[in-house]
Amino acid sequence: MEFNIKSGSPEKQRVACVIVGVYESRKLTLAADLLDRVSNGFIGDVLRRGDMEGKLGSTLMLHAVPHALCDRVLLVGLGKEREFRAKEYREAVRASIKALTQTSANEAVSYLTELTIKKHDVEWMIEQATVVTLDALYRFDRFKTRNDEAVREPKKMTLAVQRRSDLNDGEKGLARGLAIAEGMRFAKDLANLPGNVCTPVYLADTARDMALSLGAEAEILDEAAIAELGMGSFLSVAKGSVQPPRLIVLKHYGAKDKADKPVVLVGKGITFDSGGISLKPGEGMDEMKYDMCGAATVLGAFRAAVQMALPINLIAIVPTCENMPSGNANKPGDIVTSMSGQTIEILNTDAEGRLILCDALTYAERFAPATVVDVATLTGACVIALGHVTTGLFANQDSLARELSAAGEEVGDRAWHMPLFDEYQEQLKSPFADVANIGGRPAGSITAAAFLSRFAKAYDWAHLDIAGTAWKSGKDKGATGRPVPLLVQFLQDRADIATGNVVRRGRPRRETSDAIDDDAD
Ligand code: BES
Ligand code: MN
Ligand code: ZN
Repeated sequence: MEFNIKSGSPEKQRVACVIVGVYESRKLTLAADLLDRVSNGFIGDVLRRGDMEGKLGSTLMLHAVPHALCDRVLLVGLGKEREFRAKEYREAVRASIKALTQTSANEAVSYLTELTIKKHDVEWMIEQATVVTLDALYRFDRFKTRNDEAVREPKKMTLAVQRRSDLNDGEKGLARGLAIAEGMRFAKDLANLPGNVCTPVYLADTARDMALSLGAEAEILDEAAIAELGMGSFLSVAKGSVQPPRLIVLKHYGAKDKADKPVVLVGKGITFDSGGISLKPGEGMDEMKYDMCGAATVLGAFRAAVQMALPINLIAIVPTCENMPSGNANKPGDIVTSMSGQTIEILNTDAEGRLILCDALTYAERFAPATVVDVATLTGACVIALGHVTTGLFANQDSLARELSAAGEEVGDRAWHMPLFDEYQEQLKSPFADVANIGGRPAGSITAAAFLSRFAKAYDWAHLDIAGTAWKSGKDKGATGRPVPLLVQFLQDRADIATGNVVRRGRPRRETSDAIDDDAD
């Protein structure tokens, strides 16, 4: 889809569809009001008849609005005006795209982006509209030979800004939004691929092609090179499968000084998790193809950061393999030696994510990182704790946890800070090795993080458990692309700090007099 930024009146748009918002209790937005006036109160009449109440996410498609030059006007409910916030804005944009795809309109001008929200500027409005639009249009139908339910995708979307002087900020927001959306699409595509296609080697080749095509560096380590590094823990998981493992390392040197400490992202890349000898139950096991979502989102965020040419140094590290049962697989009770030298007693072969991540975390030390953030579909326990709403966030520095929480909040991709007190380490004691790979049922997501923390002592570190947020089950089964938006915002914030751009992006740089006021915060 092609995007454009434009300023101009809604009644003058010669286009298939104009999208405008209306609040509950029949309050019109500026754009809806302009259409109402030119049509001698046509919009107001429709609302008075009660066919559209302005409830958040509701839509009504109008045809033949008098004196308007467009073929259709799509009314989008925004809910209560005083409750209109970032979340409601994203929901309204999503609803507008859904309604649009149910018509044959292939071109639209949206005035939802002209609305104002406290603490958010034009650039943010356009960025978020772009991300939400492309997210809503995403389909994964590569393997369908007959496409009966193909949805129509509009060819061109124009996002309106109020003033000509906003055009520049709008273009910046669009570029950012496109980078984030393409990072998410990249992550979703990889994640949705079945395990027989997205093998460790496929993942590594795709990551390398992506990095090189954007001018970044890539290094792919094969089994021999991984063994050479002494990654006994990672290899113990990999050897249970006929698919060979890979260690993917991507590098973006965007800072002025190549010697600046990099941010390191580490992603869990289990391309299929059967559980190994501690085999998982059969029901829903297909979803364990999503056990590489940490890897996919780290690669997606890397892609976005490079496309945005973020002025930071960034390293992505992805250990990738399958977790399968076989004669070569780990057995409960096996003891392995990690790259750090710590020995691990494997009490459950299904707790394999931490076994591959611990060696990647040790490997990260060689980059003298400013920060390391790992992303993993690590525990079912995290889904029990937080459901599918928020990502579990753990850190060995509270300030880093705050940074990541704030980044997620800014872009509606939230994470919740969980405790990581020393007491939890008790549960990981092993009578035979330095540490056990499981800590029992209580606080399962925390003991998993506590395990990882033992390998992340050399730097500031955070861990994102995305087991509940990386994909959806049921009839809308599919990868979400989360937490690409959170990660990109975090990296952007880091870049702003590094370059002294103290005005946090996403905050208004000037007061907008017509800002919709809400007194809640
Ligand atoms: N990949 C799973 C975690 C998972 C399970 C994510 C379900 C999303 C949905 C991970 O490798 C795993 O199997 N973890 C075990 C750990 C347990 C054996 C301590 C789990 O959560 O059951
Ligand atoms: Mn597992
Ligand atoms: Zn797993």
